[in-house]
Amino acid sequence: MRFHVSFTLNPIVTPLGGTDIAIPRSASRVATSAAVAGAVYAAGESKDEVALKPARTPASQDVERRVSTLLSKMTTEEKLQQVQLLSDGQVTDADAKNGVGGVFSLVNPQRINELQHIAVEQSRLGIPILFAYDTIHGYRTIFPIPLGTAASFDPDVAETDHRIGARESAAVGLKQIYSPMVDVSHEPRWGRISEAAGEDPYLNSVMAAARVKAAQGRNYAAKDKVVTSVKHYAAYGQPEAGRDYNTTDMSEQRLRNLYLPPFKAAVDAGADTAMCSFNAINGVPGCANKRLETDILKREWHWDGFIESDYTAVAELLNHGTAASPADAGAQALNAGTDSEMVSTFIRDNGKQLLASRKISMKRLDDAVRRILRVKFRAGLFDHPYVDPAKAEAAQELPDARAAARKAAGRAMVLLENDGKVLPLDPSKKTAVIGPLADNGKDQIGPWWGRGDDSKKVTLIEGIRAQSPGATYAEGCKLPGNEPPQYDESEDCPSTDFTEAKAVAAAADQVVLAVGESRAHSGEAASRSVLDLPGNQEKLIEAIKSTGKPFVVVLFNGRPLTLDGVKGVAPSILEAWFPGVEAGNAVADVVFGKVNPGGKLPVSFPRRVGQVPIYYNHEPTGRPCDVTQKYNSRHRDIKSCDPEYVFGYGLSYSQFEVSNLRLSRTSVGPGGSLRASVDVKNVSGPKGDEVVQLYLHDPVASISQPVRRLRGFERVTLDPGQSRTVTFTIERSDFGFYDNSGRFVVEPGVIDLYAGNSSKATLKKSFNVTGR
Ligand code: BGC
Repeated sequence: MRFHVSFTLNPIVTPLGGTDIAIPRSASRVATSAAVAGAVYAAGESKDEVALKPARTPASQDVERRVSTLLSKMTTEEKLQQVQLLSDGQVTDADAKNGVGGVFSLVNPQRINELQHIAVEQSRLGIPILFAYDTIHGYRTIFPIPLGTAASFDPDVAETDHRIGARESAAVGLKQIYSPMVDVSHEPRWGRISEAAGEDPYLNSVMAAARVKAAQGRNYAAKDKVVTSVKHYAAYGQPEAGRDYNTTDMSEQRLRNLYLPPFKAAVDAGADTAMCSFNAINGVPGCANKRLETDILKREWHWDGFIESDYTAVAELLNHGTAASPADAGAQALNAGTDSEMVSTFIRDNGKQLLASRKISMKRLDDAVRRILRVKFRAGLFDHPYVDPAKAEAAQELPDARAAARKAAGRAMVLLENDGKVLPLDPSKKTAVIGPLADNGKDQIGPWWGRGDDSKKVTLIEGIRAQSPGATYAEGCKLPGNEPPQYDESEDCPSTDFTEAKAVAAAADQVVLAVGESRAHSGEAASRSVLDLPGNQEKLIEAIKSTGKPFVVVLFNGRPLTLDGVKGVAPSILEAWFPGVEAGNAVADVVFGKVNPGGKLPVSFPRRVGQVPIYYNHEPTGRPCDVTQKYNSRHRDIKSCDPEYVFGYGLSYSQFEVSNLRLSRTSVGPGGSLRASVDVKNVSGPKGDEVVQLYLHDPVASISQPVRRLRGFERVTLDPGQSRTVTFTIERSDFGFYDNSGRFVVEPGVIDLYAGNSSKATLKKSFNVTGR
């Protein structure tokens, strides 16, 4: 959901002669295949095969014929309208009549229909409008934030989220969603780390592919399907200082090995649209980046979809200082490969003049329009342009959706600590629920809440009371979570008077303490310079501890937090993320043991913000960290080389043993593959889930390789005493990487494989890669 600001972009000539633009402030905003370095492929399919295959099903001849016929009838003005994408706050009936290409954030089905009727019946060529929305982790039925879904290490969770999100969105007339967001990030300061799958390209790729396939189905013309837009292309997840929209300087090998793979995975899964990013990469803004947009995405990956700019990103080329005028910005964007301009209207308004002065070509404009029309035909819009508003509501928050959201939230939770086995709690005992997130439906759905504010949100206290009747409640302190610039950090949990909270805790047998971030702390334009619990929440935890009652800290948050002040104080810590509309029920399921937690961290949790960026898949140094020595790569004031919690970490109410790593062969030649098997056993405790993880490392390569990189995982459910064998098939190409000239190489030599239940996996086997 977005707060709409209508505006005109007036270039302002600054005293120094530079240009500046007014950027409106948005006050509120509202994929088991495998993927590795640069090439993404289904299990058992080699990268070489993929390279030979078009990235998606070739366009049907019928669609191409219809596109060509239509294109040949279009005037220049109509083409320029087609590349225009307007927000709900901007669009008018006149735009629809003039043949505007797309509208986003409009969610009223009556109004969608009204505009569509105008476009289809009153515009000269009757081209339907593509209506889009940010269905990021649900439309009305809000699922956990994507970072939480990633923590499930279960692509089925992402699949269900987007299947239901697509159904609810399509029911109101939306046919495109601005998701999946696949920005790999090592930046917990960046609020948007909440929107993707964390720090690992493989996990991001698997989740992205699941989301795309679920939202689009086999044919996104189906009435409950939508086309996906993978974003933000590219390397938006690595802004300097973690400050949103900030610049990024990125080596070719990092770009291709870490940041591009999830985009490739989404495209291979069928994503037909993409959104270019706000940030500059090596000095070239995302929406003016020809190498990324045209050379890589469209040509190298054989992709025939369209790219829309991010919100005002074309206009922002002026602020980036790469464009001198709106016309120049429009030309740069279109020439780079941006096909559709969101919010600003530079291409549309200056297109004729740009064509006349040959700053843009009709060939390129036609290509952009062709791409947009192709997606509209594939979406079935020409055959079924209208939605039935009377049926829109009936598709929302169906019982299966609510049940799926509850299950998803439970699978996303990560048990960080459980000293003395405080969890699971006994629901027949007297439970107190305390904290600013305990009775807080608004914040529990996190950033990009879609239409979730219109949902029936089950708060923590409601969920706990449903299982532990008579549970008592105290807020402890408030987290107002105002939006900047009104936001003032001192408003967060300002008081240290916890008298009432302590009294409520003291009168109970056990306490569930819900602390964390408000939804405004995370998401777009919500970068933080500190990562601890806002305000006096750590003091609230100490106050509850002083009562001597057994308690669990439940964290609601959108990013890795520094938990130094919580660990060691709280006996149990459950990371719940922002769980969505079913938060209360899902947390209650876990704390009372109906659900045995099995999530794992998709991102490292630093000890202190000064460690950032700290991530498991880092390159080695010449002086690897050793806290017993001085002259090596470490922080002198931190007595550890590790983050507080490592990637892939998470506890359960059960104990698992991962053992017996074995390989099907000792060397892999050209075209070859290898199977790695490992046994996993539930050695004590109830039925539960373990995520078996496989990492690889190339110890000697032409360029330094990450000390580990995830190459396989499987979440398995095991009864007490039960064991299973998990087998991963790895292709020769998995051992390759992109070098700094953008070449994908597989180098002969030793490869180490590690298996276990976190990125600290200790089982190790090595084999040889032979030949070139
Ligand atoms: C965000 C995108 C979003 C777009 C449209 C932008 O501010 O960066 O992620 O899709 O707005 O709402």
